[in-house]
Amino acid sequence: MDIKKVLVTGGAGFIGSHTAVELLNTGFELVVIDNFSNSEPWIIKQIESITQKKISFYQADVTNQLSIQDIFNKEKPDVVIHFAAYKSVGESVTKPLMYFQNNIDSLMVILSCMSQSNCKKLVFSSSCTIYGNNHPNPLIEDYAFSDLPHAYGSSKQICETILQKTTIANQFNIISLRYFNPIGAHPSGLLGELPKGTPNNIMPYITQVAIGKLPFLTIFGNDYPTPDGTCIRDYIHISDLAEAHVFSCKRLLTSNIAPPYEVFNLGTGTGVSVLELINHFETENNVKIPYKIGLRRPGDAVCTYANPEKSKKNLKWEAKRSIKEMVKDGWRWQLFIK
Ligand SMILES: NC(=O)c1ccc[n+]([C@@H]2O[C@H](COP(=O)([O-])OP(=O)(O)OC[C@H]3O[C@@H](n4cnc5c(N)ncnc54)[C@H](O)[C@@H]3O)[C@@H](O)[C@H]2O)c1
Repeated sequence: MDIKKVLVTGGAGFIGSHTAVELLNTGFELVVIDNFSNSEPWIIKQIESITQKKISFYQADVTNQLSIQDIFNKEKPDVVIHFAAYKSVGESVTKPLMYFQNNIDSLMVILSCMSQSNCKKLVFSSSCTIYGNNHPNPLIEDYAFSDLPHAYGSSKQICETILQKTTIANQFNIISLRYFNPIGAHPSGLLGELPKGTPNNIMPYITQVAIGKLPFLTIFGNDYPTPDGTCIRDYIHISDLAEAHVFSCKRLLTSNIAPPYEVFNLGTGTGVSVLELINHFETENNVKIPYKIGLRRPGDAVCTYANPEKSKKNLKWEAKRSIKEMVKDGWRWQLFIK
């Protein structure tokens, strides 16, 4: 395969930056667009320094059709990976319009620019949130969407529906990836999750408690029907998740047998409880995580983990890194940023 160009939106963010590293290391040319609404410009330098490769970077808002079309005209990408979106479930409850607008408008702009530029291949960032709480585990891709109480998950459901219903008429080839719970950081310790303000996700919260920035971790409920009473999630190493995007690009660029629209779970298939995660972190890194038990958070699922069989079979990808690597790499990153 000759060198192909991938355009990544949201490439300075947590998942986008790790995917950028894997794409560059695989030999893809890279164009990144980000408006830094939830990231920092120095992350682009980190990607370049880890890979010793250059990125063509544009600071732009993906909801701005004119500026994005200009970038498409200039760069002529072969594939697009669309990460750019707002991602906090809690914030989306209080600011639903902001979430629908950014997450849906940005997708519409990308599809329109792809259409006008004759770029037909897209990887879309979806989420296991779309399954809701009503299905038995492990979750399979065939399960129907559940009605959700928050705009974040609803926006992902709407985006997936738009993709499914536009693929054939526009001769697109699209892969939607439903992420479970990405944690950890690049093993170099030079790249990781960089939350603005108090973290919404558990791993940066734990690492900030470990380093003393936050006094303790609140566990939302320990009276769930699980072995230790805390919620169970399918944590996946960020580098495994990032690699799945490389596999997706390759599949879109080389496969003639792939259906025009495909959906894949990205998880390990193993559930880990919040208390187990804390224990792994403490044991592997030899640090204490003070925690308190708080009330259950409304809407939290008791237990979610993926059935990763379809990804293994068709995408030829599977998660390889252990929970130990996740907690060690996450801590190394926190020590780097302090
Ligand atoms: N992190 C998770 O746990 C998780 C789980 C499931 C799905 N996802 C999805 O994966 C994608 C990436 O998530 P992440 O964790 O890397 O989030 P992130 O916030 O770290 O990264 C998103 C990036 O997109 C940028 N961005 C947002 N809106 C933009 C716009 N209009 N124009 C240009 N740039 C914009 C932000 O500045 C940020 O750099 C999102 O679509 C998110 O919904 C994330």
